[in-house]
Amino acid sequence: MGTERGNWNSQLGFVLAAAGSAIGLGNLWKFPYITWHNDGGAFVLVYLLCILMVGLPIMMAEILIGRKTQKSPVGAMIEAVGRRWAWVGGLGVFTGFVILGYYSVIAGWTLRYFATCIGWSFKGFESSESTGDAFNAFAANGGLQLMLCGAFMFVTVYVVRRGIGGGIEKVARWLMPVLFAILVLLLGSALSMDGAREALSFIFMPDFANLPATGVLEALGHAFFTLSLGMGAMITYGSYLSHKQSVVRASAIVVALDTLIALTATTIMFSVIFSSPGMKEQISGSTVGMLFISLPELFYTVVPMGSILAPLFYVLVAFAALTSTISLMEVIVSYFIDQRKMPRAAAAWMCGLGTFILSALCALSFGGVPWLSRFSWVYRGTDGAKEGLFQHLDYLASNWLLPVGGFFITIAVGWFMTRESTEAELVADDNPGWFYFPVWRFIIRYVSPVAVALIIIFVIRGKDFS
Ligand code: PFF
Repeated sequence: MGTERGNWNSQLGFVLAAAGSAIGLGNLWKFPYITWHNDGGAFVLVYLLCILMVGLPIMMAEILIGRKTQKSPVGAMIEAVGRRWAWVGGLGVFTGFVILGYYSVIAGWTLRYFATCIGWSFKGFESSESTGDAFNAFAANGGLQLMLCGAFMFVTVYVVRRGIGGGIEKVARWLMPVLFAILVLLLGSALSMDGAREALSFIFMPDFANLPATGVLEALGHAFFTLSLGMGAMITYGSYLSHKQSVVRASAIVVALDTLIALTATTIMFSVIFSSPGMKEQISGSTVGMLFISLPELFYTVVPMGSILAPLFYVLVAFAALTSTISLMEVIVSYFIDQRKMPRAAAAWMCGLGTFILSALCALSFGGVPWLSRFSWVYRGTDGAKEGLFQHLDYLASNWLLPVGGFFITIAVGWFMTRESTEAELVADDNPGWFYFPVWRFIIRYVSPVAVALIIIFVIRGKDFS
């Protein structure tokens, strides 16, 4: 089945695909919201430290396992550290299924907002359509929700079915440069707006008095989600990497790009919000509020050239989401190819159908089906109970699945793989490994497990990081 696995055609292809996985709704939907919620500056600084101290080393660890074993997570864990670790890979596959289940619903929304913005740009903006009520009506429209997330899932499967070099890499090579270009365009416009100065100081001027105590852990938890860590996505992508290509350089570029995009997107969104008098106070308390309720209207009322930039912005969000859903799907599909010896096309369609069942239930949990929207599993949370399937899946993935997966991956690499085997993967002839290898190894053995264990302890005690 070797030919079913495939390979990246170049290091650039791998970097773009891995950056595509990392850059997604986490950067454009979650990060701005949690930055807002945690009062900006100090949180951003802590987040940058988490990314550097914990995110980057774990990214290197995951890619290292993948490249060394040339296998998807289950097989990779078995080969790298033994049979007893297979479940960590299995947990990753399950996590991919859970995240894809709810992620594809939000991804589907970007298509509708793109279409709506095109309509507004040509026919003129209708303000009544953009209120919170209009959003709620849209979210509760079950048929439309199924169609949107179904369409997104279909495109995802279509790309994954075509394999690594000819599918995933090709799409990343096209979409990522377009995404960067749109972002630069939007940034240029945003920085010319009245609110830009206030936005920049909100994001980049740290005031530790404003940082909530658990902000540090929230930043750490988000680092997992935004870098696609803790579920073997990077093990999977790393498994298609040839031994000639550098793990360290690739990891550093992916992490840097993800961080840059998150900060740029947040600068754009906050410049727009701060340019509209009174908007700061009105920003909806929900995660979806900023991206899908406040922003569409603001593009047409305060942003220069908004009628061109608004559709472009939602294309950007859709592209970012697509390169992430592709990687989520690839984790599941590669399991069936490697461990169950299925042909890629059959595995892709089967997994697509299976995940669509979960996505469909999720898509109907915004009012489409009252039971799915309202059921609440009571847990000892400090932030109130979750409501509906969507919120439960996000809670499960962000609070439990990614941190637990990440914890065991760091333990496996730090304590159960030999120093020689990790060193052989990380220290290539052409880079100064003597400097970073001991630092990396110390972090992966001590700092990362302790930091991730703290997230899990707080979650057990009722904290919610989703
Ligand atoms: N990193 C993606 C984002 O920030 O939107 C989400 C994600 C993709 C998480 C792929 C995990 C994953 F395997």
